[in-house]
Amino acid sequence: MTHHLELSHQQQRAFQPQKLSAPRDFIVPDRSINAELPLVLEIGAGKGKHALSFAQQNPDKHLIAIERTRNKFDAFAKLAAQQKSSNLSAIHADAIAWIVHAIAPNSIERIFILYPNPEQHNPNQQWLNMPFFEFLLSRLQVGGEVVLATNIEAYMDNAEQQANEVWCLPNTRHKVASDSQRTHFEVKYLARGETCWQLNMRKSEGYKTRFDTWQASSEA
Ligand SMILES: C[S@@+](CC[C@H](N)C(=O)[O-])C[C@H]1O[C@@H](n2cnc3c(N)ncnc32)[C@H](O)[C@@H]1O
Repeated sequence: MTHHLELSHQQQRAFQPQKLSAPRDFIVPDRSINAELPLVLEIGAGKGKHALSFAQQNPDKHLIAIERTRNKFDAFAKLAAQQKSSNLSAIHADAIAWIVHAIAPNSIERIFILYPNPEQHNPNQQWLNMPFFEFLLSRLQVGGEVVLATNIEAYMDNAEQQANEVWCLPNTRHKVASDSQRTHFEVKYLARGETCWQLNMRKSEGYKTRFDTWQASSEA
């Protein structure tokens, strides 16, 4: 079983983390205050609605929420400064480069990717189609999960198929409750009467990636 898992995603083109330079002004976040807390990541946090409430509702977790777009990040950073949650790090960066340089293997309990850009014309930019996804899985702890939500049925169908056939991750798919309000995009889509889906994928015992011992060097 495990052998089969390795083979199917290791037939994919390998991500090349060594080719990614550190994001501009990169500093490894100082997590000394919360060093004991389990780490949770959010990729594409937008204006931070989910990140801010997650941090408030989960004082026993440390959330690192990453957003690339300057104006969205500025709105998020302002609210984060007001809320002053010591268990929330708001990061302005491209998540791929930042994760490669900042996150150790097998260190993340949960990863949220909520309403990613649909990339309908560029499917190889959908998260589960990217070689980077293997690297992301290497950062997840055994038993940890990736939570993906989208309002695009074709995105969800593809993600579910990739989770099963390429990444071999046990997963469950369900419809998001129509009164859920986790993110700005979720509120907008549900208010329009659209269906939103969620896929929860779990990294099981014995899961192997080609990056399980890969770590950026400190001088990078
Ligand atoms: C459709 S928006 C959803 C925002 C928020 N999650 C929500 O549901 O309201 C997708 C967000 O992902 C961000 N994003 C896309 N690729 C990213 C990357 N590589 N690193 C960081 N953020 C990214 C975009 O800037 C955008 O704000």
